[in-house]
Amino acid sequence: MRLLLVCLLLALPLLSVAQEPAAPAPPPAERKGAPHVPKNLKILKPEEIRPVMGAIVTGLGVKCGFCHVQGDFASDDKPEKETARKMIVMTRDINAHFQGATADMVSCYTCHRGETKPLIAPPAAAPAPAAPAAH
Ligand code: HEC
Ligand code: HEC
Repeated sequence: MRLLLVCLLLALPLLSVAQEPAAPAPPPAERKGAPHVPKNLKILKPEEIRPVMGAIVTGLGVKCGFCHVQGDFASDDKPEKETARKMIVMTRDINAHFQGATADMVSCYTCHRGETKPLIAPPAAAPAPAAPAAH
């Protein structure tokens, strides 16, 4: 039963390739560098993946592995990925609702500035500089 399920899952991408009659499926070895067929998009369109992922890594100063399980971009196992989904929606909402005020300028970087956790309050006041030692 489980084996059957695995076979079905493996067959899925092959089926979708088979639907395009003009392009016969290349042998698996040649498919290695082929474009990733997204399997688990809830917000983005396939063509948005590349630019959005690029903006995200710059915005947060992270690598892909901050949100993605290695070798399986479709997996939702990392909670950071789900948080990122909410953040994508939030960022889009801001830009959609405040056009003119933000000139579509709010991005991950606007808040994150290359950090995973943007400051939500000013840093604790730095201690007053010590009085210069009297000579
Ligand atoms: C801050 C978190 C985060 C980082 C870092 C990140 N991603 Fe993503 N990625 C996401 C989210 C969220 C989605 C799902 C979007 C959706 O549901 O529409 C996603 C989806 C994807 C998908 C589609 C997977 C599928 O099959 O559904 C690919 C491919 C991908 N990312 C590649 C990358 C690459 C390459 C990098 C590094 C350059 C990267 N991501 C960095 C959050 C991240
Ligand atoms: C309006 C400001 C704002 C914008 C824009 C924004 N974020 Fe965030 N983000 C936050 C805040 C605030 C937190 C919570 C920081 C904390 O927990 O201390 C956060 C937290 C996160 C976390 C969790 C980090 C962790 O260490 O667990 C992820 C992932 C994240 N944001 C991704 C994104 C992505 C991806 C974008 C762009 C699509 C984005 N954010 C845009 C404000 C923002």
